[in-house]
Amino acid sequence: MKVLILCTGNSCRSQMAEGFLKQMHPALQVWSAGTHPSSIVHPIAIQVMKEAGIDISLGYPKSADMFASVDLDYVITVCGGAQENCPVFSGKVKNRLHIGFDDPADATGSGEEILSVFRRVRDEIQHDFAAFFDKKLKSPLEEARLKAIVLEKYSAIASAGGCCCESPADVDYSIFSESYDQLKGYNPDADMGLGCGIPTEFAGIKAGDTVLDLGSGAGNDCFVARAETGEKGRVIGLDFSDEMLVKARKNVKKLGLKNVEFVAGDIDNMPLPDAIADVIISNCVLNLVPSKERAFAEMMRVLKNDGHFCVSDVVLIGQLPEALRQDAVLYAGCVSGALQKNDYLAIIEKAGFKNVKIHKEKQVSLPDELLHKYLDKQGFETYKKSESGIFSITVSGSKM
Ligand SMILES: C[S@@+](CC[C@H](N)C(=O)[O-])C[C@H]1O[C@@H](n2cnc3c(N)ncnc32)[C@H](O)[C@@H]1O
Repeated sequence: MKVLILCTGNSCRSQMAEGFLKQMHPALQVWSAGTHPSSIVHPIAIQVMKEAGIDISLGYPKSADMFASVDLDYVITVCGGAQENCPVFSGKVKNRLHIGFDDPADATGSGEEILSVFRRVRDEIQHDFAAFFDKKLKSPLEEARLKAIVLEKYSAIASAGGCCCESPADVDYSIFSESYDQLKGYNPDADMGLGCGIPTEFAGIKAGDTVLDLGSGAGNDCFVARAETGEKGRVIGLDFSDEMLVKARKNVKKLGLKNVEFVAGDIDNMPLPDAIADVIISNCVLNLVPSKERAFAEMMRVLKNDGHFCVSDVVLIGQLPEALRQDAVLYAGCVSGALQKNDYLAIIEKAGFKNVKIHKEKQVSLPDELLHKYLDKQGFETYKKSESGIFSITVSGSKM
């Protein structure tokens, strides 16, 4: 996430705002600049920021022109009253925002009076930028963090050749998966034991359909779907891991299929046109997407009007212990990103899907050895006695 804070001289307000915003999240890239940069950062700005525990003494005023070719997520102008001309940034930027503050450099009076103006503006900047961070940046940054974990994990699995992983702390991803070997179109090279159901079983795929598989991995469900669409249909697998796509494309080449293709992209922002698919399938993937709302909204967009979806996924009934919920490995292992079953179904309905139906529901137990890694003796016993459960479900819904 790239943010540029802009004022005229880049010596006080924008430097202070940069100082505060930078320390709010390590993944934020923050700069400040001015349209007419001063020669130095104002010494009293450095002093009052030091009082707040932030060292901006190494900063220097920069010209806004330096950022003309950077793809910025936000440009925030921080100029103050009506008497000030706010700078205009002409480079590439997704969002423009104005958060105005008085220029403390205009303060007059005794040294103590000037200092108190700098302190007031510093505190206002800290407050307003903390609010901006909470409102606009926190949740996209968290989503980006979770996606990076998932991407890294599944890319490593693809590179290693399949389930399961090398580290003893890792989840055995195959605890959820079902046996595919009796299915028409099954290709063992594409089966990495990463699914949690058989979505094609209830997907109602017809000959000639265009089927989209979200999070297609090495292509396991795509090849089963292709056996149903036949050669007049089309199967598109979408995945954001290059390593998975390489594996899937190798598999399709080996099989010599002309109507199965694999596309790179993110499920919550698919690089696909509207109304392209008759049927969407997905196997143990949507629980890995931080914004299920955006995922289902995208599914609605890319489905034809008379289209439908059938997905297998992991959901929860009851609460998981905090130690399991917060863990990154378990997030990538389809456990901690899973929603409560009712919340999951509510998101599908809120996206506008009709005739939502669960076809299969199966409880999945986490192995005791895994639970012992996260829970102490008492936590383990409490969890075992609790009503909470992890379930794999296969659910369908239609656009109309
Ligand atoms: C648990 S694996 C399932 C793979 C495949 N469906 C199967 O059953 O073998 C999850 C897959 O989804 C992909 N994935 C996860 N989040 C994604 C996202 N936001 N966009 C696209 N692909 C994603 C991963 O790269 C991985 O290949």
